[in-house]
Amino acid sequence: MGEMQKNLQGPRHRTSLKKPLWVVLTVSVTSMLLICAQMFPRHGKSSSCHGLYSNRGCEDALSSWLPVHVRKFTDEEIAARAVVRDILRTPPLLTENSKIAFLFLTPGTLPFEKLWDEFFKGHEGKFSIYIHPSKERPVHISRHFSEREIYSDEVTWGRISMVDAEKRLLVNALEDPDNQHFVLLSESCIPLHTFDYTYRYLLYSNVSFIESFVDPGPHGTGRHMEHMLPEIARDDFRKGAQWFTMKRQHAIIVMADGLYYSKFREYCGPGIEADKNCIADEHYLPTFFSMIDPMGISNWSVTFV
Ligand SMILES: *[C@@H]1O[C@H](CO)[C@@H](O)[C@H](O)[C@H]1NC(C)=O
Ligand SMILES: *[C@@H]1O[C@H](CO)[C@@H](O)[C@H](O)[C@H]1NC(C)=O
Repeated sequence: MGEMQKNLQGPRHRTSLKKPLWVVLTVSVTSMLLICAQMFPRHGKSSSCHGLYSNRGCEDALSSWLPVHVRKFTDEEIAARAVVRDILRTPPLLTENSKIAFLFLTPGTLPFEKLWDEFFKGHEGKFSIYIHPSKERPVHISRHFSEREIYSDEVTWGRISMVDAEKRLLVNALEDPDNQHFVLLSESCIPLHTFDYTYRYLLYSNVSFIESFVDPGPHGTGRHMEHMLPEIARDDFRKGAQWFTMKRQHAIIVMADGLYYSKFREYCGPGIEADKNCIADEHYLPTFFSMIDPMGISNWSVTFV
């Protein structure tokens, strides 16, 4: 989340806007798939290659142009990249049983349960729902939502526990081999399109919708720490909204990653270094995917404010 959101809304997972008016206004101005009550500054896409090598990956471009400056990878990095490459080579397995997993990261009971229930009605077999309640046991009455809570843990805003909760949702959903696309949602998200449209849009896209951009200021690249070197260079540091959708391959890659995740667990948190206010869930996935599969992500999010 950007600074703007923090100032306006305080800790995340608050729906501070008046809902009916807000819903009507926002539905009418956007064509995104889903909408969340989050403020997030929009930035243009940019690349650390400064347009010089615009059709090529940065590393490819650099290694062919400037081999002298390419650093040597550590054993862990070489291993991590080999695993990622292999997972990316596995073609997606789409069948008529393929499902989209909707992952709700919420403090407790979902306020829009009824709305979502309408959205899902009649599409049984094409979706699955997982709920991570981080504060209190939810009370859900509709059949789609009851008994869908996973084993959860406390989540602190800005801390790695937020990423841990996302990973907990992903791994639970990965256990069902029919889940082919994964959507992370907050309790304040509502759908803007029909189920069929959302299903086709996500399942047949070949990218994950993960926002990722360079924010050169203190709330972006300024949060990078020396300790993240050598694996995460300052130039590789990215920012993006927390809310993502992810294809199965990418969810597996997130589970397989210990190396880059540990850099964020250790060195990305409010106050870890003097005045740096690193927020793990705003940087980990945007940075990780722009490094290991830049062509495989959209760089923008299907959730909107
Ligand atoms: C996704 O599909 C588009 C066109 O349909 C193509 O240009 C692009 O290279 C594909 N991306 C990947 C990662 O396969
Ligand atoms: C996302 O941005 C990266 C550069 O960071 C670029 O290489 C990639 O092609 C972009 N993805 C899409 C789908 O445009």
